[in-house]
Amino acid sequence: MSIAFRLPAFAAAILAACAFTGAAHAQTEIKLAYALAVNSHYGAGAAAWAETTEKLSNGKLVFKQFPSSALGGERETVESLQLGTLEAVIVSSGTLSNFVPEVGVTDIPFLFRDLQHARSVLDGKIGQDLLAKFPPRNLIALAWGEQGFRHLTNSRHAVQAPVDMKGLKIRTMENPVHITAFKTLGAAPTPMAWPEVIGALQQGTIDGQENPMSVIVSAKLAEVQKHLTLTGHVYSPAALMVSPKLWNSLDEEGRKALTEGAKAGVAAMRAFVDDVEKKGVENVKAAGMNVVVLDDGAKAEFQKALEPAYKQYESRYGKALIDGIANAR
Ligand code: PAF
Repeated sequence: MSIAFRLPAFAAAILAACAFTGAAHAQTEIKLAYALAVNSHYGAGAAAWAETTEKLSNGKLVFKQFPSSALGGERETVESLQLGTLEAVIVSSGTLSNFVPEVGVTDIPFLFRDLQHARSVLDGKIGQDLLAKFPPRNLIALAWGEQGFRHLTNSRHAVQAPVDMKGLKIRTMENPVHITAFKTLGAAPTPMAWPEVIGALQQGTIDGQENPMSVIVSAKLAEVQKHLTLTGHVYSPAALMVSPKLWNSLDEEGRKALTEGAKAGVAAMRAFVDDVEKKGVENVKAAGMNVVVLDDGAKAEFQKALEPAYKQYESRYGKALIDGIANAR
């Protein structure tokens, strides 16, 4: 046979081999967005989620990370999941109740006693029932991660009691439960997406904000805020979510890899939070912050001042559910 006849057959064989190799290594890229830097609890969760999923899927599912709000604020990224233009997010409960209203119950101030209490409720039936509310809203939530308990920072004065909140312009998340709480305490809540917050604090258009130690440390808030009050006023969960478009495209094995990966992400976030809860206060003191520690009596004053808000929460979420969470062991 002449070389002119043999070449096309040879080329076809190479092409077929390439096509086979390509199919064997077909990869799905998962774009994962989150609001904070890679050295945060979100970054730790994202790394563990990615590593475990990639390993369990034998490299078929591959993550590409977009930290530091690179793809927009949390509300925008959740909308992108619904549209199917983004595959995965780690988000706080900040805007979640605007998509899945039932989730707002977790945002009620002083509902959870401590991290252990919050973790066992969210890992248990109540938390899993809440995850089941996402698919009808065109979202898939795989697991509850966390940020820790939120505390108050501001640059005006040390906050020791509810009376010190009067008139303070506090940035809150775009979260109706939080906005109600800060109004009830006499502050002027200013809902704002996270990517605008540092600039607004620098320019003085707001006096303060509230976030857990995990955020206060990783976002270096000591550079733009003078006073920290350890209010621990509300637990801040975070959801590890994927788009229905991605979820529906996966077989059973792919879904399992993604779900097990999310569990590893949760464990990494919780380990980060445990660590920063121990070391964070010393860290921000060293960076020049004035830290106010509230004793039980002072915390009780905040709870008392919030009584009118609790009435509203009860009518929105039901006393039975709120009591069920508060009394869970
Ligand atoms: O304050 C917020 O909006 C959230 O806690 C943050 C910092 C974006 C992390 O989810």
